[in-house]
Amino acid sequence: MAGRIPREFIDNLIARVDIVDIIDARVPLKQAGKNYQARCPFHNEKTPSFSVNREKQFYHCFGCGASGNVISFLMDYERQTFVEAVETLAETLGVDIPRESYGSENRGQESNLLPLYQVQEKAAEFYARQLREHPDAGKAREYLQTRGLNDEIISHFQIGYAPPGWRSLPTTLPADQLLASGLTISKEAGNFYDRFRDRIMFPIRDRRGRVIGFGGRVMGDETPKYLNSPETPTFKKHKEVYGLYELLATRKKPERIIVVEGYMDVIALFQHGIDYAVATLGTATSSDHAELLFRYAPEIVFCFDGDNAGRKAAWKALEASLPALREGRTSRFLMLPGSHDPDSLVREEGKEGFDLRLVEAKQLSDYLFQHLSENLDLNSIEGRSTLHQKASPIIGKLPAGVFRDMMQARLNQLSGHGKASSPSRNKSHRSAVQSVQRATSERAKPSMLRIILALLIQNPDFFPLIDAEARQELERDEKAGELAAKLFSILKERPEIHCGGIPEHFRGEAEYGLVLKLSVLEIPLSGLDARSEFSATLEKFVAQQKTMLVAQRLEWLEKKAERIGFVGLDEAEREEYRRLTRRK
Ligand code: GTP
Ligand code: MN
Repeated sequence: MAGRIPREFIDNLIARVDIVDIIDARVPLKQAGKNYQARCPFHNEKTPSFSVNREKQFYHCFGCGASGNVISFLMDYERQTFVEAVETLAETLGVDIPRESYGSENRGQESNLLPLYQVQEKAAEFYARQLREHPDAGKAREYLQTRGLNDEIISHFQIGYAPPGWRSLPTTLPADQLLASGLTISKEAGNFYDRFRDRIMFPIRDRRGRVIGFGGRVMGDETPKYLNSPETPTFKKHKEVYGLYELLATRKKPERIIVVEGYMDVIALFQHGIDYAVATLGTATSSDHAELLFRYAPEIVFCFDGDNAGRKAAWKALEASLPALREGRTSRFLMLPGSHDPDSLVREEGKEGFDLRLVEAKQLSDYLFQHLSENLDLNSIEGRSTLHQKASPIIGKLPAGVFRDMMQARLNQLSGHGKASSPSRNKSHRSAVQSVQRATSERAKPSMLRIILALLIQNPDFFPLIDAEARQELERDEKAGELAAKLFSILKERPEIHCGGIPEHFRGEAEYGLVLKLSVLEIPLSGLDARSEFSATLEKFVAQQKTMLVAQRLEWLEKKAERIGFVGLDEAEREEYRRLTRRK
């Protein structure tokens, strides 16, 4: 691996491959008019609403809203990273990927990390072998047996044993990499000893299966009970979870993912057939965790102990998952009874018992309002206004959409504040319905600005139709001005770019979602072809902006005149006033 892949290469790649071929090879498509259709691979459905458009080099699902270009498809469907997706496309075309020069900061991080992954992989193999062969490993195997783990599970998770000595790791492993990965500790220069000694070892992998760190458990009552690798360039505890790779190895598309707190919880659940749990790595759930997991499943169930610490952890998880709760994603909360953790509970109640509890896990909405209403008297104004105060900023963290509207409506209903002012069920339901209707009617009639941007993204060759004046008006727009400006600079730099290539320039930025939406927005053409529709709308938009500017300027002049009298205006201002009123 090397430096950054040049932008231009990616643009060309997207322009040269055909999204229809790439998708068809993975999800067989049927032609329907000028589009190609299939049952959507991103959600369960009976009738096909997944559509691929060859002209635009785009796919879009009318059912779940999934959409994107060929790179997004490979990333979402095959869970490839961005670079992997580019590699796949390059392979299809049989071309090599050029890399930008090894600039100091461009130097691929990956290339520095490779030896770290390798040394940890070797260490994981070493620990696993020690569990089978080391003379002291008998008690480790016994311990695992008392915890009910069979050989199959031990090998699925590659559980191992770190021998008791201070220097057991093979001397063939490079000392500097061992140190950098935290497997050894150095008290003084050149003097190393093993971090993990006489412990059961759990290798921690990233989603691609690379070993990024370890957790090690004592077999008795010594402390600390668990020792984890320190944060290293490969091991970021707030970004990674334990068990995701092992989960994906058995289930490509889980319906839900359970988040628990301990390694042993993941493993015990797995052994009981609940093979879709992951654990945080001794840290609170972060929004990175939530984003990561929602890439693989539409639902996350947070499962915590019922004690005070568990309740705190659950609330943190709720707050962290809010920004990730886009349409089609849900999270629920399962608080365990008594002193149980998932491990002990599934051993006591079996899969059936645990499944039943899963079904009963609380919806985020219920959990949120219940938690916030605790110790509040909602029959009093004080209680209701406190609830409103506490809940508003939390609901504000949800992405805009129907779910947020409905949460707001529920809050209004509970607190008797806001639009649904009387706490009646119907009314709040109506306001939620209204907001859905508002959203749909907005979709039916896009604004002029949306029409212009959508047509432009879908037909990059329309760019020359925008003159300097129109460009200025579009860039001035409060809502989409920034997007417009960025779009123009891309089109100016790459006049040959294809519609499907445009979102690549926005990936990871705030406007990415909007660009995807605009790429697939169907513009009702009023009898004109797309080019004429574009010109006409552009002209109308510019005229409207100008009229608005005139109105604003007039208002300002009038205000001033009101304050200081018409004669107070200077000659130029009076002249301008007369001119503008005449024009109006
Ligand atoms: P078992 O006792 O093996 O069942 O472990 P558990 O998973 O029930 O452990 P517990 O609930 O005590 O801890 C949950 C998670 O917190 C563990 O998987 C570790 O990631 C982390 N953890 C627990 N104890 C320690 C500790 O002493 N030090 C550190 N660094 N992390 C710990
Ligand atoms: Mn436990």
